[in-house]
Amino acid sequence: MFGFVDNWGGDVETGRMRDWPRGVIPFGGDYNPEQWPREVWREDIAAMQRAGVTFVSLGIFSWSWVEPSDGTYDFGWLDEVMGLLAAADIAVDLATATASPPMWLAQAHPEIAPIDHDGQRLWPGSRQAWCPSSATFTAYATRLAEAMARRYHDHPALAMWHISNEYGCHNTPCFCDTCADGFRDWLRQRYDSLDALNEAWGAAFWSQRYADWSQPLPPRRTPTFPNPGQTLDYRRYQSDALLQQFLAERAVLLEHSPGVPITTNFMTMRHFSHLDYHRWAAHLTEPVDRISTDHYVVDLLADPWAEQAFCGDLTRGIAGGGPWLLMEHSTSAVNWQPVNRPKPVGGTIRDSLTHVARGADMIGFFQWRASRAGAEKFHSALLPHAGEDSARFAEVCRLGEIAGRLGEVSGSRVESQVAILWDYDAQWATQGPALPSAQVQYPDLAIEIHRALRERHVPADVVYPGADLTAYRLIIVPTLYLVSDAHAAAIEAAVATGADVLVTYFSGIVDERDHIRLGGYPGAFRELLGVRSTEFAPLRPGEVVALSGAHSGSVWSEDVALAGAEAVLTFTEGPAAGHAAFTRYAVAPQGGSASGVRWYLATRPDRDTLAEIVGTLCASAGVEPVLPGAPDGVDLTRRRAADGRSWVFAINHTDLARTVPVTGVDLVTGRHTGGQCEVPAGGVAVVRED
Ligand code: GAL
Repeated sequence: MFGFVDNWGGDVETGRMRDWPRGVIPFGGDYNPEQWPREVWREDIAAMQRAGVTFVSLGIFSWSWVEPSDGTYDFGWLDEVMGLLAAADIAVDLATATASPPMWLAQAHPEIAPIDHDGQRLWPGSRQAWCPSSATFTAYATRLAEAMARRYHDHPALAMWHISNEYGCHNTPCFCDTCADGFRDWLRQRYDSLDALNEAWGAAFWSQRYADWSQPLPPRRTPTFPNPGQTLDYRRYQSDALLQQFLAERAVLLEHSPGVPITTNFMTMRHFSHLDYHRWAAHLTEPVDRISTDHYVVDLLADPWAEQAFCGDLTRGIAGGGPWLLMEHSTSAVNWQPVNRPKPVGGTIRDSLTHVARGADMIGFFQWRASRAGAEKFHSALLPHAGEDSARFAEVCRLGEIAGRLGEVSGSRVESQVAILWDYDAQWATQGPALPSAQVQYPDLAIEIHRALRERHVPADVVYPGADLTAYRLIIVPTLYLVSDAHAAAIEAAVATGADVLVTYFSGIVDERDHIRLGGYPGAFRELLGVRSTEFAPLRPGEVVALSGAHSGSVWSEDVALAGAEAVLTFTEGPAAGHAAFTRYAVAPQGGSASGVRWYLATRPDRDTLAEIVGTLCASAGVEPVLPGAPDGVDLTRRRAADGRSWVFAINHTDLARTVPVTGVDLVTGRHTGGQCEVPAGGVAVVRED
């Protein structure tokens, strides 16, 4: 869907637009010159050139500098910076500058401040203090976007528009009265009648019946559990309200600056689930829009690299399989974790190339120069507080050189035979109130299985259940608690045409209204899998139960009965002792075409067991690793261009050098591998295969 061209420029109707950096993977980051005196700007540009920076994202938090008072613009400083960047041939991803409303706007319109769950107003003095439903905010933001577009649409530095910043990062969910009104309008469009709303929300329960359209509310703090259907719809509404804010600015840019690519930076991270990015992506179209995301390594996770790799593959799925842009990550420590450790030497390069390995066609950072004041003064940057005389800046310069050599991979696609399904509706519903086990976290099994595949050197696409699933050999359906009839049918259809499928516990349980699918679990997938349970038996925190063989499970069990499937592993203790824990169902070929094998996993296996299970699945489905005989601890992916050229990315996550059996030129070192590519400890190789 989002193909990439290496020339985003050319002459456009309204004026001259620069080319996006060619022959390189664009490399750079957020540039916030307003934090520094004018003298520093020239130093910045010179240092950017020394570092090999080819793009910057400019003006993201500049609203109060470009519009210092209502309707008064000061573009002088920005003209100067744009001019310096143009002269240095650094492409600008120019912000509409609307991410953080200025004080004059907050003062004139205090009603645009978001209100949290408890009715507490979120005051200005930080950032993103605006309500997703505020038409007042839209009016001011689109006015500024228009002013920016008119001023810079034909500027020689302009290469892309950057709308707002990380929509929803801080301002959703908002529970204010404006959102309540917006929600009611949204509900009226979704449901034809109050009867339909009452039915969808199961409002017969606890006397929640709505008799007038003025009655539905956001799920504000209630005496006990709120209504799950209402909660789910509110999440959908908030995501849609922010999408409308984005589309309003986008429409202004399309009118006043046609022909220039547009992006907004997503946050496809494990802990960020505020927006339905699949729904957003459906509104973004070639050749206008670019999917971009930010990713920060969360040190406290048991396996941060598993999350990092997963999120790269998820972003690629959101981008329809095509390349995407890494808008932000960090060169080293962040400032928002309880303890903020620097990355090891080489970590900047390794993390950047991990994203390129998973389809990123740009390497961006927050931010160019480390701030000396403000809430992010301890966040790392391309140019640290210590200045150019620092090991980190030396690594940044090395990364700049590598990015300069990687241009040939841009536009190529990551190959994968496995799909892992990911759905924000299912994630939201799994975060809903009063479920069987708080231990079931939507991303857990998806990321665990993805890791087990990675450890076998098997790449996976992380895709929406509504995506085209027909080309995959193996489809993983982890914790898809909520599934629509259409998505369940799409999974069945892919199996019918030969894909194997693994469904894990707590999948297929409810429809898109969060209504139970009656008749036994796992609801929508019972017949497909040839199993039926009548009661869940979730395990207590820390409880581990034995399975047949030397295996064990945690988190979940249930009284699985076989209805066609055979048991591969059985619970031998715990509340579901004697019942199947892992099943296999192979249906005899009908009419000459063999349907895929269907597997059901009713517990969270220990790591070795999961590795074995994933090995069994890959063997059964005929899924192959990127390279046979590659060493442990090295992540492998392959990107392939339309003309057949291919590049193997090898990321060494171990403390020892590893030798990978691949023949070609390593673009990182510039050397031919001679068949055995040595990847240094913590290092990366990008080998153009002979
Ligand atoms: C991102 C944000 C940046 C900066 C960064 C710090 O979420 O877009 O502006 O705050 O985090 O890690």
